[in-house]
Amino acid sequence: MISRIARPLAVLATVLNASSAFAQPPGTPATASQNTPQSVVKYWLEPAPAQAGVVERGKWLFRQKGCFLCHGPEGQGGISNRNYIKDTIPRLALATQLKLDDPEDVSAILDQMKRGVRLDTLEDSAPVPRFNVVLAQYHSVRDVIRNGNPAGKKDPKGPKPPLNMPSWGRELSDADIDALVAYLLSAVPAEEPRGTPGH
Ligand code: HEC
Repeated sequence: MISRIARPLAVLATVLNASSAFAQPPGTPATASQNTPQSVVKYWLEPAPAQAGVVERGKWLFRQKGCFLCHGPEGQGGISNRNYIKDTIPRLALATQLKLDDPEDVSAILDQMKRGVRLDTLEDSAPVPRFNVVLAQYHSVRDVIRNGNPAGKKDPKGPKPPLNMPSWGRELSDADIDALVAYLLSAVPAEEPRGTPGH
């Protein structure tokens, strides 16, 4: 148990240190990108879903590994990162990132992933148009999750941004990373859903 939560706790410490990841004191309207201590504890106590489909498993991993601390509970991003070139941590709208503009194409890719087919093996039987582009983007997303990425500085003379994309290669298998990709493909729309306050 201790070792299972050690990494998320370390992430939590970093995020708390960088602050603004948690909801402001009562009175300030909460926005979707803010975490609360209650949601953090709730997420970590969640048992792994039994016989989970790949999307459910990805959702569980997203919470269990603490991705939500930086990327927001729904992967919507918007958490501020001091002196970061993009100001706030990116939204994980993977359909957009994988250049899957048509919802039918997203479904076609998800269908393959749900059946346990590895996208790499589909080169000769492309499930969507311009599959080579999709595959290249998929590889780069996987690489970022596996190897991490430092957050670029906005002002080169300023301090290093406190929140960086950690590398997960040691604790997430290829199948875990695929589950996260499937979850983010299915769950995170390109834009803020209507009716949700922006940040
Ligand atoms: C400590 C904060 C933090 C945690 C925890 C974190 N990330 Fe990130 N992540 C970042 C930052 C910052 C970036 C942007 C880095 C950059 O600018 O290149 C990023 C980038 C990414 C990207 C690339 C997005 C893009 O637009 O290029 C993906 C995909 C991603 N993270 C997925 C995850 C997943 C999955 C997890 C959990 C297993 C996770 N992140 C946990 C901070 C974090």
